[in-house]
Amino acid sequence: MKFFIDTADLDEIREAEGWGVLAGVTTNPSLYAKTGGRLADFEGHMVRICEVCEGLPVSAESQAKTIEDMVADARRLSKLAPNIVVKLPICEEALTACHTVAAEGIRVNMTLVFSPTQALLAANAGARYVSPFVGRFDDIAEDGIGQLASVVRAVKNYDWAGRNVDGRVEIITASVRTPNHITQAALLGADIATVPLVALRKAVRHPLTDQGRASFDRDWQKVLDAQ
Ligand code: E4P
Repeated sequence: MKFFIDTADLDEIREAEGWGVLAGVTTNPSLYAKTGGRLADFEGHMVRICEVCEGLPVSAESQAKTIEDMVADARRLSKLAPNIVVKLPICEEALTACHTVAAEGIRVNMTLVFSPTQALLAANAGARYVSPFVGRFDDIAEDGIGQLASVVRAVKNYDWAGRNVDGRVEIITASVRTPNHITQAALLGADIATVPLVALRKAVRHPLTDQGRASFDRDWQKVLDAQ
């Protein structure tokens, strides 16, 4: 499973990029707002992200509400950099817009997916990525991982050749909050997990690793003291 980082913060992206584990970036309007971003700088900011992780897919989300505006956004955003993926929240308009721009070779990440039917419709409309959300189910005391399992099984049942420019659909596990979400997504065969830096840091750590490092340090000090 590949790791994307779920942030619009350039420092966080640089940090994860520095670990050598990064395969892409997802942003959304809330994450951009969190950086203090202004509308006038939105596209410039997306370009800067694309420059930091050259060649890796970077999802930039459209806030358009009509098919025409979504198509126009997708065309404009996709010209910002070769690695831009246009993110559209699933709805009837987004399916039509996705179908139109996918035929032009534009990669779409269909987001806010909460059911297998939404994922299948997105894939049929030409989405290159579908993003089922896990944590938001858990937030309302429902089973996010169980829902993800259904999406993975449904999408992996079919061959998506010819539906988008790459002829395949990758599942991005989104709304990831914990290392367990990452583990379960990998065990289910999700292609990607998009993870905020705070959850990535948690995934690096383990109490037994900390304990082991501390005891190695103590014992190594004995070696140094014996010189
Ligand atoms: C996905 O691409 C979204 O940006 C993201 O994962 C949403 O996560 P949240 O539920 O923590 O806001």
